[in-house]
Amino acid sequence: MIRVWDPLVRVFHWSLVAAFAVAWLSAEEVQPLHEWAGYVVAALIAVRVVWGVVGSRYARFSQFVCGPGKVVDYLRAMLGGHEPRYIGHNPAGAAMILAILITLSGTAFTGWLMEEDAERQAVISALPQIVAPAYADEERSGERGERGENGEGPDGPLKEVHEVFANLMLLLVGLHVGGVVLASMRHRENLARAMITGEKRAPEPGDIS
Ligand code: HEM
Ligand code: HEM
Repeated sequence: MIRVWDPLVRVFHWSLVAAFAVAWLSAEEVQPLHEWAGYVVAALIAVRVVWGVVGSRYARFSQFVCGPGKVVDYLRAMLGGHEPRYIGHNPAGAAMILAILITLSGTAFTGWLMEEDAERQAVISALPQIVAPAYADEERSGERGERGENGEGPDGPLKEVHEVFANLMLLLVGLHVGGVVLASMRHRENLARAMITGEKRAPEPGDIS
C-alpha cells in the first residue's frame, strides 16, 4: 500500500460532505445554521485551493487537472472497459472535482450576496456577468435581501440562481458518488475507504501514478 491522500485532503473531503449536508438540510428551516454551514463550505474550499498549489503530490492541481481531450479519451476508454487505473484522481474524477468546487463556490457566493448588503456593494463591480444582471433586476424590484412580511426569506433572481447552483450540486454529487462506485468496482479497491485511510494499492504495471 502507498499513502496517496494526505490528512488535509481527507479532512477537507469529509468536512465538505458534512457542511454541504448541513447547509442543504437546514435551508429554509434553520437560517443561521444554514448560513454558517455555507460559510464553512466556502472556507474549506479556500483552504483546498491553496493546498492545491502548495500541498502534497496528489493534492496538487498540477498533478490531476487536465484538458477536456484527456477527459473524453478517458470516458471513451471507460466505455470500452479498458481505462487505466490512476493512483491519484483520474481525468473524469478531476473534471468532476473542478465542477463541484466551482458550483459550491457559486452557491456560497450567491448566498452571501443575498445576505451581506454593505459588503456586496464593495464587490459589485467585480461581479461576474451572470450575477450582475440578476442583482440589477433584484434592485429594481426592490426585493434585495429584505425579509418578507411573514418572516420568509428574500425572494428574487439571486435566490433563484442560488437554488439552481444548489440543485446542480445534487446532480454532481450523484454522478461523483456513481463514478467512485464504478471506479472502485473496475479496479477492485474501495476508493471511499482510501479517502478515509489515505492509502491505496501500490501501482502495478499499466497504472498511472
Ligand atoms: C456532498 C457530497 C460530496 C462532495 C461535495 C464531494 C466532493 C469531493 C471533492 C471536492 C473531491 C476531491 C478531493 C480532493 O482532492 O481534495 C472528492 C473526491 C473523492 N470523493 Fe467525494 N464528495 C462528496 C461525497 C462523497 C461520498 C459520499 C463518497 C463516498 C462514497 C465520496 C468519495 C470520494 C472519493 C473516493 C474521492 C477520491 C476520488 C478519486 O479517487 O479520484 N465523495 N469528493
Ligand atoms: C454552499 C452551500 C449552500 C447550499 C448547498 C445552499 C442551499 C440552499 C437551498 C437548497 C436553499 C433553498 C432554496 C429554495 O428552495 O428556495 C437555500 C436558500 C437560501 N440560502 Fe443557501 N445554500 C448555501 C449557502 C448559503 C450561504 C453561505 C448563505 C448566506 C450567507 C445562504 C443564504 C440563503 C438564503 C438567504 C436562502 C433563502 C432562505 C429563505 O428563503 O428563507 N446560503 N440555500
